[in-house]
Amino acid sequence: MARILITSAIPYINGIKHLGNLVGSQLPADLFARFNRAMGHEVMFICATDEHGTPAELAAAKAGKPVAEYCAEMHQVQAEIARGFRLSFDHFGRSSSARNHRLTQHFAGKLAENGLIREVSEKMIFSIDDNRFLPDRYIEGTCPNCGYDSARGDQCDNCTKQLDPTDLINPHSTISGSTNLEMRETKHLYLMQRALKDKLEAWIDSKTDWPVLTTSIAKKWLNDGDGLQDRGITRDLHWGIPVMKGDQPWPGMEGKVFYVWFDAPIEYIAGTAEWADANGLGDEAWERWWRTDKGAADVTYYQFMGKDNVPFHTLSFPATILGSGEPWKLVDYLKSFNYLNYDGGQFSTSRGRGVFMDQALSILPADYWRWWLLSHAPESSDAEFTWENFQASVNKDLADVLGNLVSRVTKFARSKFGEVIPAGGSFGAQETALIADIGARLRDYEGHMAAMEVRKAAAELRAIWVAGNEYLQAAAPWSVVKTDPEQAQAQVRLALNLIRIYAVISAPFIPDASAAMMSALNCTDWSWPADTPAAMRLLPPGHAFAVPENLFRKITDEERADWQARFAGIRN
Ligand code: 2FM
Ligand code: ZN
Repeated sequence: MARILITSAIPYINGIKHLGNLVGSQLPADLFARFNRAMGHEVMFICATDEHGTPAELAAAKAGKPVAEYCAEMHQVQAEIARGFRLSFDHFGRSSSARNHRLTQHFAGKLAENGLIREVSEKMIFSIDDNRFLPDRYIEGTCPNCGYDSARGDQCDNCTKQLDPTDLINPHSTISGSTNLEMRETKHLYLMQRALKDKLEAWIDSKTDWPVLTTSIAKKWLNDGDGLQDRGITRDLHWGIPVMKGDQPWPGMEGKVFYVWFDAPIEYIAGTAEWADANGLGDEAWERWWRTDKGAADVTYYQFMGKDNVPFHTLSFPATILGSGEPWKLVDYLKSFNYLNYDGGQFSTSRGRGVFMDQALSILPADYWRWWLLSHAPESSDAEFTWENFQASVNKDLADVLGNLVSRVTKFARSKFGEVIPAGGSFGAQETALIADIGARLRDYEGHMAAMEVRKAAAELRAIWVAGNEYLQAAAPWSVVKTDPEQAQAQVRLALNLIRIYAVISAPFIPDASAAMMSALNCTDWSWPADTPAAMRLLPPGHAFAVPENLFRKITDEERADWQARFAGIRN
């Protein structure tokens, strides 16, 4: 049994995420967590809300609420939606937790002790009309790298370049729109990433099995020297983690907080500590996942995120970990995703374009979305959501192929032999061939799942469903029953066992449908069909079953047109 630590990039607190956000981090991480649990591994799966920084402050101001109250409410909202999508986090934490305060201050203290923090007196942009400094998203302007005209002060959304507010061309305040800005002196802490360049480079070079997307982004920033500028890790904001050196005050830093991107990834660790606290466990329970001197040496750590997050996870966060000089776990495998576009354009949170997680669940159950999103995950390139494709995929894969097989087999079995698994006959050549075919495909499926090849895994799963349909078509128990009822019984017995196998192996993709199949089969044995011939005989003759409700319904053309119109524009 292996020990698998999985983290998904933690979503910003400011509002409900769209399906593009979901498929780029939380959903594939959930798929991987569910698969590894099914394989019998010990899994720790952590996510959280990313609650600090200007996005949170700006959203709270817009909602007319104190920021702490806004974050507490939005955390509940996001947690509820995550449950709706069946995201199986062991813990869904908060980056504003006491644990994260302590750990972030701890890391800063260690980095200072190791001479990796310098204090810089610098001129920052001050808005005279707003009477405050304008860090990060409080300021927008034109990107000096690509010319995008709505680049934020901390990063350009168009070309992913990490920016400083002073880099922007034609900057303006996002609070008031004012361009009445001046440079004022303020003091900040910088993490000396450049001093860690050799260590980071050696570490990245050792990751020969990472996806090309991940390594190419990491190397680009590393070799440009760009991602390795020493990085400001403090801000003139009220909401955030107060700048302290461990538990000691940091002279000159009073009233300042850490930069959101400094504390957010530390929440992966803090979230695991929150999990231990919530379960009444001591520190050793979470340290065995994170401290290589306290049991984490045999943990394999996987991170999931969209490509815009890669620089922070391949350079900045590892710089924090390596620079601490303490034996914290570094990521072993970083799975990154391209973007999902929406119906001929981009998903847009600000313009409300596309389908947001709450809206998706209001029109169809989670499995429909999980299946489409995962089977079209933007792995090797950007992908596009269209309603036509969604309708076709749901109606064909889920309703026609899987749902139809389950309903046909259970209904036929009940009508001819009653609601127990029939005992007659024995498996012949067709059954043996199916068992061999499914066995071989299962091994491929396991390989793709273990390698986080999400689309390939979905394609193989679909092929496994199709193989069952083809078998039924060829074996035709509804004809055989007229001439050789014993043989038809053996065919039905095999098909009912096949449904259990489908339930178990499909659960990482479509957990609710799998649960419905298992409940119809009156079965609680979720064991993985590693030994396929044995798994095809697991439910014995005489075992009772029921016909389930229709597993999936088809999407009509009217619904498709209606939803297409509904989600094209501004979100209300
Ligand atoms: O891009 C985002 O949505 C960020 N909130 C991701 C943070 S991931 C990590 F650093 F915790
Ligand atoms: Zn840019």
